Amino acid sequence: MAIDQIQHVGVVGAGTMGHGIAQVCAVQGYRVTLVDVMPQALERALRDIAASAEKLHSKGRLTDAQRQAVQDNISTATDIAALRSADLVIEAVSEDEALKRDIFARLDELTPPHAILATNTSSISITAIAAATQRPDRVIGMHFMNPVPLMQLVEIIRGLATSQETLDTIMELARRLGKTPVEAADYPGFIANRILMPMINEAIYALMEGVGTAEAIDTVMKLGANHPMGPLTLADFIGLDVVLSILEVLYEGFGDPKYRPCPLLRKMVAAGRLGRKSGRGFYEYGTG
Ligand code: CAA
Repeated sequence: MAIDQIQHVGVVGAGTMGHGIAQVCAVQGYRVTLVDVMPQALERALRDIAASAEKLHSKGRLTDAQRQAVQDNISTATDIAALRSADLVIEAVSEDEALKRDIFARLDELTPPHAILATNTSSISITAIAAATQRPDRVIGMHFMNPVPLMQLVEIIRGLATSQETLDTIMELARRLGKTPVEAADYPGFIANRILMPMINEAIYALMEGVGTAEAIDTVMKLGANHPMGPLTLADFIGLDVVLSILEVLYEGFGDPKYRPCPLLRKMVAAGRLGRKSGRGFYEYGTG
């Protein structure tokens, strides 16, 4: 499908990634339908999108027209059938392969034959997700980074059957969204998480073994390696449950013990200390 045929973009999942993706698409003038089964998630997403657009506008990073576009271009729905006329759907639900395959099978039935189905998965095989559809040539990975409105990268992952045309269209779309697309092959964790997650995991081992306090570990990486956030702060930001599930995908996918999730990470997740979103992870956060 040619890039100019994309006018209506569906986003499935209104969490942090989904609403960020909806926002950057709306800013560029795409008509966006954001779908989530939970009405409260949609309400929260609209509030967060408005707050983000306001902040970016106040810093001169969005024009008046772009701020207005965010307001005008996004509608919401709790039923995925609202995506019947979508030219592109970007799925951003939680990292659960069975759930993603189920959503892709339904999208395949209801969206027009030309539509491209993309997934924002951070580590699950694009080939496996595409196999749940009758259009694996039009299924692709489009992995945005958090926070979506601020981060420059989109990792683009081609499954075994993804066509060159689909790849070209999605690379161009990412550029039109103001992002830099980088192609990665379909192996567990692609490029970003193949490298980022072992670093975070190692930082958690270092904490568990008493090599340094959380503050010491983060300060070393911030001031010594110029990372914008230390690895434990970043883990809290991403969500410790998400970090654990990506490490599990790497560990199972490669069968290599170097990816084994740190026992302290498992313990934190079991205790419900999931990072910023739960108010406590390696650090404590105030409510809200
Ligand atoms: N929309 C608009 N503004 C936002 C925002 C959003 N979604 N999120 C944060 N901001 C704002 C902040 O409110 C802040 O505003 P003020 O200056 O008015 O206070 C501003 O952005 C900048 O924040 P900081 O002062 O903290 O500045 P910073 O230079 O540290 O930038 C950051 C913040 C871009 C998040 C930076 O800390 C960073 O790059 N951190 C690392 C992020 C990262 O690694 N992301 C990838 C995670 S991994 C992933 O996403 C993939 C995966 O599969 C798990």
